[in-house]
Amino acid sequence: MATINTRAYLLDQARRRFTPTPSTVPGMGLAEHWLRQRLWESVVLAEPPEGSDLKPVVGDAGLPIIGHMIELFRSGPDFILDLYRAHGPVHYQWTPGLQSVFALGPDATQVVLSNRNKDFSQRAWDPMIGPFFKRGLMLLDFDEHMFHRRIMQEAFTRSRLTGYVEHIDSVASQVLATDWVPDDPRFLFHPAMKALALDIASVVFMGHPPGSDHDLVTTVNRAFTTTTRAGNAIIRKGVPPFHWWRGLRARQVLEEYFAQRVAETRDSDGTDMLTVLCHAQDENGKRFSDADIVSHMIFLMMAAHDTSTTTTTTMAHQLAAHPEWQERCRDESERVGDGPLDIEALDKLESLDLVMNESLRMVTPVPWNFRRAVRDTELFGHFIPAGTDVVTWPAMNHRLPELWTRPDRFDPDRFAEPRSEHKRHRYAFAPFGGGAHKCIGMVFGQLEIKTVMHRLLRRYRLELAHPGYRPRYDWGGMPVPIDGMPIMLRPLR
Ligand code: HEM
Repeated sequence: MATINTRAYLLDQARRRFTPTPSTVPGMGLAEHWLRQRLWESVVLAEPPEGSDLKPVVGDAGLPIIGHMIELFRSGPDFILDLYRAHGPVHYQWTPGLQSVFALGPDATQVVLSNRNKDFSQRAWDPMIGPFFKRGLMLLDFDEHMFHRRIMQEAFTRSRLTGYVEHIDSVASQVLATDWVPDDPRFLFHPAMKALALDIASVVFMGHPPGSDHDLVTTVNRAFTTTTRAGNAIIRKGVPPFHWWRGLRARQVLEEYFAQRVAETRDSDGTDMLTVLCHAQDENGKRFSDADIVSHMIFLMMAAHDTSTTTTTTMAHQLAAHPEWQERCRDESERVGDGPLDIEALDKLESLDLVMNESLRMVTPVPWNFRRAVRDTELFGHFIPAGTDVVTWPAMNHRLPELWTRPDRFDPDRFAEPRSEHKRHRYAFAPFGGGAHKCIGMVFGQLEIKTVMHRLLRRYRLELAHPGYRPRYDWGGMPVPIDGMPIMLRPLR
């Protein structure tokens, strides 16, 4: 392939690509021309070292100050798909405060996430969530990460998961029966599910018996919600009364709470995650320090929470919009019945598995993965200097027509034999990431989601709040339905 490494050539190319169309407003032609050139001027990440065959990565700066934020927040993966079509797999986005190379498509995702030469670290997450989730598993690197992951694995064995399912089931059954409002078009699924996920977490993660110490649970849940929200703050400094500042204070509340709970829990028995982490050890008998458990618990709660909420919300919407799939899932749930749930029973809900995968494909809860180059490296013949942030976009891969038939369509059977479209590329479908940092809570999350959906389908018929309803998402962080997702719950009995 020809080597393109002169800045002038690239700038010229970029300008040609953005050649302005003549203005329709008389007298505005020149001004518009000038403005467009300034706004869309091409940006080169860095020239490759002399004598290198590598190409520089080019991109553009978008609008002054806000860069491409508007397109990104409004259209998320669809905007990224446009970039991929226009620029190929490696493209630089110079948005102030968020300068990064986009590594797009399944091949690029595979190179970055499998990280064979250990070129990429997790440090790119620090500016976004570092102060609130520091020392969480996902923010650790290389040997230290492996050391912690090996111990944490103990909390996700099949026998541990069996214990969690029991707790999840009892909380979900109770909350769906008492707190969720039937026959009300104003019922909003997303916030209701978020509250349920927190109720589940307080029992399964923190070990509070259901319905216990309401004030304490509320304080901790509130601190936790504030901490999670702080990562999306616009003013990213600890200035009162803004989100970032509130997030830092909330992190302190969580640290104090968990430090005390660890001290109480070290010598006790229990099947909740906090107790399990207090006793977990690797094959050499190494255990977590108290400070490690505090940081891991705060991160785990965050990692488990919005991801499961988004997926369950998407599933509820799709089942309401596709009654034939809702009936198919309900038939399977009926065969499982209303007895206590376990992993074997949940395994029988195969249609629900298909719907869950299709929902994770269409609205991917973690749309991107951030990494930072620890040394000068290359991506598909492009020079990536040390310190560059690199972002992969599984949510965009999930929309590629070369991998998925009619990707815009809800079509859960695409995951079933013989179609198995997710097997067309190792990274065609990667809602849980990949490589050393692949989601450790994947099975836990799937069991939680299926438990809630099973209980929901046994109790209610799901209907769209009004015919033809289509949700819109805010893609500024994890995708969130802007209107909270109204869903009508019709009691079955
Ligand atoms: C639908 C549910 C979920 C989705 C879509 C999801 C997605 C992900 C993704 C994409 C990553 C990798 C991020 C990266 O490589 O940059 C990840 C990591 C992680 N997830 Fe999940 N997650 C889910 C549920 C959960 C649950 C329920 C838990 C805990 C109980 C959890 C705990 C974690 C942890 C600790 C990591 C870091 C793993 C590591 O760095 O070794 N996740 N998750």
